[in-house]
Amino acid sequence: MRSRRSCLAVPGSNTRFLAKAQGLPADEVFLDLEDSVAPQAKEQARKNVVQALREGDWSGRTRVVRVNDLSTAWTYRDVIDVVEGAGDVLDCLMLPKVEDAVQVAWLDLLLTQIEKAAGLPVGRIGVEAQIESARGLVNVDAIAASSPRLETLVFGPADFMASINMRSLVVGRQPPGYTEGDAYHYVLMRILMAARTFDLQAIDGPYLQIKDLDGFGLAARRSAALGFDGKWVLHPTQIEAANEVFSPSQEDYDHAELILDAYEHATTVDRRGAVMLGDEMIDEASRKMALVIAAKGRAAGL
Ligand code: GLV
Ligand code: MG
Repeated sequence: MRSRRSCLAVPGSNTRFLAKAQGLPADEVFLDLEDSVAPQAKEQARKNVVQALREGDWSGRTRVVRVNDLSTAWTYRDVIDVVEGAGDVLDCLMLPKVEDAVQVAWLDLLLTQIEKAAGLPVGRIGVEAQIESARGLVNVDAIAASSPRLETLVFGPADFMASINMRSLVVGRQPPGYTEGDAYHYVLMRILMAARTFDLQAIDGPYLQIKDLDGFGLAARRSAALGFDGKWVLHPTQIEAANEVFSPSQEDYDHAELILDAYEHATTVDRRGAVMLGDEMIDEASRKMALVIAAKGRAAGL
């Protein structure tokens, strides 16, 4: 699976940002044709994005384009222009405001047609689905199962908050008046369960107060603790924080490798299923937990 600890949003209408993003250490870069691009700038943004993908240096990063959602008139033309123009240098398309499985199936079929017509390998381009409405959340299991192209479910907190009439204007922070618990817990868990059931990654959305790094860290640690794989970043300062929060600590990584070694020895040499490692009893379930941390640590180069 691709690493997506930090997923950098870059407005497709801003050529300066499209150039600058190439030097930033985000795991994923997504070039946006949707909400960060004004309606009058959509057509030019498509051209900018194709050119940036073709001519830019995106090596080492997952290259994604976010198209417009299916309630607009732009989606099909976004997909056709981007994939015909740069399908060979594109990893995924992101579909926003996904409401049901049929929308992802539509994108899958359209991608297959364009790939065939353009002589591209069929099925290589993946899909990321944003869950950012009540309807999308209610249908999240079917959405998660909708296409073999699907790689991630992405929580879109801003649109989601609007969709449920949440009484807050600050994305990612707890809504005023909600003093007990975490107002996002249910949503994050719901998305995470669907993602894990269908072997997808789960990505948390943006934190808009870009000067508030403490707030970003708090929100990022909340979803990382549950098991999310990464988070959107809107600014260079958020990238480093996300890469750190969504990698295991060196201490946890070392401990995970220790558990794997000890357990391997216990089962193969000693033929025992449960053994002591220091003061800790480890068994097959410990091995599975350690595998998760070790895999993330290895991907992060620890
Ligand atoms: C992202 O698209 C969001 O709505 O938060
Ligand atoms: Mg959104």
